[in-house]
Parts: sequence; structure tokens; C-alpha cells
Amino acid sequence: MSLSKKIHLVADLSLIHTLGKWRYPGSWAGYAPYGNPQIYLDLARILEQGKFDGAFFADVAGTPLFEGKPEATVEWGVAWPRHDPLPMAIAMASVTRHLGFITTMSMTYHHPFNVARLYSSVDHVTGGRIAYNAVVSGFPQEAQNFGYDTTPDHEWRYRRAEEFQEVLDKLFRSVDPDAMLWDRETGRVADPAKVRRIDHEGEHFKVMGPLPCAPSPQGRPVQVQAGGSASGVKLAGRWADFQFAASGSTEGDRKVRADLDAAAIAAGRTPRDLGVLWARRFDVVSGPEEAAYNRQRFVDSIPKPLAIVFLSQWWGLDGYYLDPERTVHDTVAEVKALGVGPNWSYIDNAVAHTDLTTTVGDYARSRLNPDGGWVGTAEQIADLMEAEHETLGANGGFMIAPRVGVPQGFTRFVNEVVPELQRRGLYRTEYEGSTMRENMCLY
Ligand SMILES: Cc1cc2nc3c(=O)[nH]c(=O)nc-3n(C[C@H](O)[C@H](O)[C@H](O)COP(=O)(O)O)c2cc1C
Repeated sequence: MSLSKKIHLVADLSLIHTLGKWRYPGSWAGYAPYGNPQIYLDLARILEQGKFDGAFFADVAGTPLFEGKPEATVEWGVAWPRHDPLPMAIAMASVTRHLGFITTMSMTYHHPFNVARLYSSVDHVTGGRIAYNAVVSGFPQEAQNFGYDTTPDHEWRYRRAEEFQEVLDKLFRSVDPDAMLWDRETGRVADPAKVRRIDHEGEHFKVMGPLPCAPSPQGRPVQVQAGGSASGVKLAGRWADFQFAASGSTEGDRKVRADLDAAAIAAGRTPRDLGVLWARRFDVVSGPEEAAYNRQRFVDSIPKPLAIVFLSQWWGLDGYYLDPERTVHDTVAEVKALGVGPNWSYIDNAVAHTDLTTTVGDYARSRLNPDGGWVGTAEQIADLMEAEHETLGANGGFMIAPRVGVPQGFTRFVNEVVPELQRRGLYRTEYEGSTMRENMCLY
């Protein structure tokens, strides 16, 4: 939900430590390796200076196999290691006052009671600055850590997700905002008329409730979602405040927006209840020479074996099926016949964006290489942001990741692009509220 037509900004910090990005010249320079909070604390301060709504952490809780083994993934650091993002968000909240945090947890492998209790607790600790990215987890390596041989069926996962969201909602509503008394005189802690059991019983969950948490600053943390299939869009229409999306083309993005509008209306909400954060990469440069120089340095920082291992993870397909010399179309035809690829929306997207001659090797490199996105001076990037925001209905904003290293990529965006957006009246000059919901959804 985004009531104002201003641009909302979220920084994607999910993979800044991996996929060769840590190795970009200057990236992570002077910081201890991944796991130590110092670089994230500095990033939090930089993002808050730039009045960002939040920082985003995706999550996949597993180590993908390549050709049946974890060796290549580990050796080249292909989205590995991956720590649980929530503790880092809490550390970052402790050095900021307004910045929000979007962290991810699977609706397929976790239980809604745990998630409701955890996010309500973190909402207290962060002063109302946590958002939940609810995913249905298409990656088999995660399934294999939670008792499954492979990813459960797509529609089963979405049925579970629908019920998961219902349980979350009931739990968050089970304690009224004014339930707490903490009355020293009588010793009464809460008004029992304002705290209720939920007695939920469904196909997947049986939960008595109530949530054993005092009402948190946001009540229900901001809800984010990213599934792009018809079932994913339907789920977003009913429950999400924001959807992450990026189709790869303006036409595709327009269709995503139209589908989400329809899904929100079908669920009895309005399109303004459901903002979109469009995923974009950026590089702020002084001109084409610097852009070309940065691009080359980016390519040089990606070890060659990394691209195919990455594609295998992205598609949820073991490396056995990925011959770098075969075409994408032939490969996809084969895996469809075998029925072995769980991440169909990504695989279908690859078919839609390649011709009959594109090889798997070329496509894998294009997924990682830095072409596309916003590359230009601060003014040029502000022009692109303004145009895209308007074209797509000015309902939400962007989730952005730097093509160059960190923290310098974000420092430059904050120092150069943010003032330009503010000059144009497209972006806040002060945070409006104190909670993430107030800043992201009510303005
Ligand atoms: C921008 C973006 C971020 C995502 N983040 C995650 C994530 O952190 N963890 C995860 O398991 N899936 C993530 N996904 C995948 C989706 O949540 C969803 O599981 C996947 O797209 C398959 O569902 P679908 O078939 O409805 O698209 C992300 C997708 C997008 C587009």
C-alpha cells in the first residue's frame, strides 16, 4: 500500500557479499568478511541518510548442489554462505531510527505461529520497523533441509501459503492494540476481553492462539510478497502491502501492474492498497567512459565457473541439465518433458527473453552481467526513475541494487541521485512517521 505518489526506495542487500560482488574493486574494502555486522551498520546509516524506506534481505535456507554435489557452490561462493537475515536487521535497527527492514521467511517450511511470534517480537525491538517477505520457496536445496526430497508441488505450496496468511492475520488480530494494562496498583497486566483464542483448524494448520505477545507498534508488520505466477499474484492481491516485481521489459511491467490491480480488486481491496517495488540495478557515473570502465571491472570480478552454477540455482535445476553450449530453448524443452525444473516462472521468462540461438552459457552470463538497469549521471537516472514511476502508475517505488561495490554504490546514489529526486518533488525530504508502515504505506 502506498498512499502518496512519491517514490519509495528499498535497498537490496541480499547478495552483496556473494556472486563475485564482494570482489569488485573497492567493495568491502576495510571491512571484516561476511558475518561481521560493521559494513551493514555503515550501510544502514548511509541508507537512513538517504531517507530510504528500508533494506531488503532475500533468503534461501540451503546449499544448492551442482552436478549432484555442493563443491562448486561453496568454492565459488554462489549465493553461499547465507545467514539468517533477521539478526542483522536487528543490529542495523540499533544504529538507526527510521530505516525499515524487509526480511524473508518461507511459508512452505516454517509454521505461521513461529513467524507471527518472531515478527511481532522483532517489531517491538525495532520500534515498528520490520516487514515480512513471505515466499513459497521454489528451490530444492531448501526442501531437502526441511524433510522433503524435493520442492513440494506449486499449487500445494500456494494453498498452504493462503492458509498461512489467514493464520498470521488471525494471530496478529488476537491481541487488541489497547489490550495491555500494566496496572501497578491492581497488578492486572492485560484486559482479557481484548485477547482472544483463534481456534484455527484447516488443511495445514491447527492453532489455538492467542499470540502470546503484547501488541507491537505496527500490529501487523508490513507484508511483502514476490511470487509472480497467477497463484502468487492472487495471494498478493489479498494480503500484500507491497509486491516485488521485475519482468525485464516496460510492457511486461505494465502487465504485472494490471494483473496486481485486478487481483487487489478481486480480493475486495483497491490498487492503492498494493504497491509494487520494481527491482532495478543502478550505477551512478559521470559519463559513458566511467560506465564502460565499471562494466569491465564488474565482468572481471565474476569467476567464469560461477555463471552456470548461478543459473542452476536460479532455475532450481541441477547442473546435469545445463550444457553451456546448448540453446536455452532446447534445454527448456527437455526439462519440461522430464518435468524436473521447479522454478517455471524463471524458466519461462528465460524462453521469452531469448531467441532460438541463445546458448545456456550466454544466457547465464547475461543474468549476472551488468547490462540493463539505470546507468548514467544522477540527472539521467532521476529522469529514468521519474518516467518509469509515472508509466507504472506511481504506486510504490523501487528496490535497487548497485552494479558496483558496497558501500560506495549506495553512498553515491544517496549523495547524488537522492537530492535530484528531492529537487523534483518525487521523494521525501524527511521521514513522515515513526514506523515502517507509517512511512511506506500511509504516505
Ligand atoms: C524480487 C524477488 C525476490 C524474491 N525473494 C525470494 C527469497 O528471498 N526467497 C525465496 O525463496 N524466493 C524468493 N523469490 C521467489 C518468489 O517468492 C517465489 O517463490 C517464486 O517467484 C516462485 O513463485 P511463483 O511461481 O509464484 O513466481 C523472490 C522473487 C522475486 C521476483
